[in-house]
Amino acid sequence: MSDNAEATVNVSPSSASQSAPATQANPRLGTPLDRSATAARTKVLLLGSGELGREIAIELMRLGAWVCAADSYEGAPAQQVAHEYRVLDMADPTQLDALFAEIQPDIVVPEVEAIATSELDAIAAQGVQVVPSAGIAAICMDRERLRVIAHEQLGLPTTPYRFAGSLEELRAGAEAVGYPCVVKPIMSSSGHGQSVVRTRDAIDAAWHEAQVGRRAAGEGGISRVIVEALAPLDYELTVLTVSSSAGVVTCTPIGQRQESGDYRESWQPAAVNPDTLQIAKDLARRCVEGLVAEAHAHGERGWGVFGVELFVLTDGSVLFNEVSPRPHDTGMVTMISQRLSEFALHARAILGIPVSESHVDLAIGSGQVGASHAIVVEGDGRAVFSNVPQALAEADTNLRIFNKPEVHGHRRMAVALAIGNNADDARAKAGRVADALDITVR
Ligand SMILES: Nc1ncnc2c1ncn2[C@@H]1O[C@H](COP(=O)(O)OP(=O)(O)OP(=O)(O)O)[C@@H](O)[C@H]1O
Ligand SMILES: [Mg+2]
Repeated sequence: MSDNAEATVNVSPSSASQSAPATQANPRLGTPLDRSATAARTKVLLLGSGELGREIAIELMRLGAWVCAADSYEGAPAQQVAHEYRVLDMADPTQLDALFAEIQPDIVVPEVEAIATSELDAIAAQGVQVVPSAGIAAICMDRERLRVIAHEQLGLPTTPYRFAGSLEELRAGAEAVGYPCVVKPIMSSSGHGQSVVRTRDAIDAAWHEAQVGRRAAGEGGISRVIVEALAPLDYELTVLTVSSSAGVVTCTPIGQRQESGDYRESWQPAAVNPDTLQIAKDLARRCVEGLVAEAHAHGERGWGVFGVELFVLTDGSVLFNEVSPRPHDTGMVTMISQRLSEFALHARAILGIPVSESHVDLAIGSGQVGASHAIVVEGDGRAVFSNVPQALAEADTNLRIFNKPEVHGHRRMAVALAIGNNADDARAKAGRVADALDITVR
């Protein structure tokens, strides 16, 4: 049907109320292509169209939403599956404002941190649902605001820390938390601008590294930094936590292996003793409930999936590290280990569909473990995958190729998934999927 034909569809007088903004607790779904003046569709604008965004777009579309995927370049993974896409600099308030005016979204889903938060505030003030809320998006991209709320207001245990706005303050902060310590820009992700400082004479280099590695480093000014004591890690956990119209529920903790600031493998369930499990889930719940309360205080919903990152130390204690107000990359394992992946849960939560304990069950047998293995490709050019038939020959394996147009340097291009009889078995199996692939960059 052409756009014109759709525009002439008759509507009954009672549907006049449909021109009012959709109440997202009961969104109107299933007619994403209806462009008529009285269109009864729910429009979701995805800000960031990477591999996580692609899965979110698919899950939203499965539930009948219209999805527009935006990113800074053309051909991003979610753009290839959404109803429409746009290319813009999402950190530029003017461009973001123009996008909102053009799309008139009912729901805005930030999938990356580098977004002009002033514009998220402005659109939330107009009654548009920002996921999980404009306030939470701004807090979680700012290590200082997040740490103050998490530790000083919510009382979550963290490693000792100080903030610094100058090299002198950083030197004093490092003395206070002790060596070895970690210096991080207030705004950065994926380990950019971070350094571990083992001795006093390396602190100047850490300050410099934070200034050049932080987000928007080219725009001048100086970045505040956080300096934290280096925690003696035994292992790290991600607790996916869902805030929906039914309240807050936590998923089974995910174990992981990080390498140079990025995750390489994750598995679920993580092997944790019952006490640690309970503490981890409690910390995650308290963190998300605190953030959601902040959203409610500002008239926002606070719905969506959060990835709460926790450190388990060699003495068994559990510390809060940080939280992503969106699905987490380590949570890609849930595409094979949970009945509803983190992306399906995110889509449900943001569309006002209740998510309760029974919705976050594992999909694997008792004793089994699901694993994900990130496929990071190195080179310059287009990555072509072959040997996929061999890679997926084993039972209980799966693969997502992200279809990113190009690699320059290192880039995560796919993820292998597997179910095994224990964590080692599942990780080895996912590793075999990755190893069997033949990836050429040309
Ligand atoms: N204080 C610390 N003690 C020990 N290890 C740390 C500390 N801070 C960070 N790390 C290590 O560095 C990793 C990245 O740190 P963090 O999560 O704070 O940064 P990030 O840039 O937001 O990373 P990402 O975006 O990948 O989550 C952690 O997962 C952990 O492995
Ligand atoms: Mg992190």
